[in-house]
Amino acid sequence: MIKIPLSEIKDKKKLKLNDNEILILKVDNNFYAIENKCPHAGCRLSYYGKILSERKIMCTCHGAIFSLEDGKVIDGPTNKSLKIYKVKIVNEELLIEI
Ligand code: FES
Repeated sequence: MIKIPLSEIKDKKKLKLNDNEILILKVDNNFYAIENKCPHAGCRLSYYGKILSERKIMCTCHGAIFSLEDGKVIDGPTNKSLKIYKVKIVNEELLIEI
């Protein structure tokens, strides 16, 4: 479990996790934690990710669209899901299940 004070999260924040990175996103006052690597060809979503409406993120490298809720592919050139970490808010902190 990783804990981050909510006050440290503006619209996005990257965290190192061993060889990977977690990207925390704040979208319309909802928080999401995703792997900062597109499962298609590895583009970094902190740079190439574009938040779309209805809780979706697009990887602008090749246009894959993933659900921020469960990581499932909505459209694009891959059938591999995006890794999503469960989050919850407790006492003004974001808890990320790893
Ligand atoms: S690397 Fe993200 S769509 Fe290709």
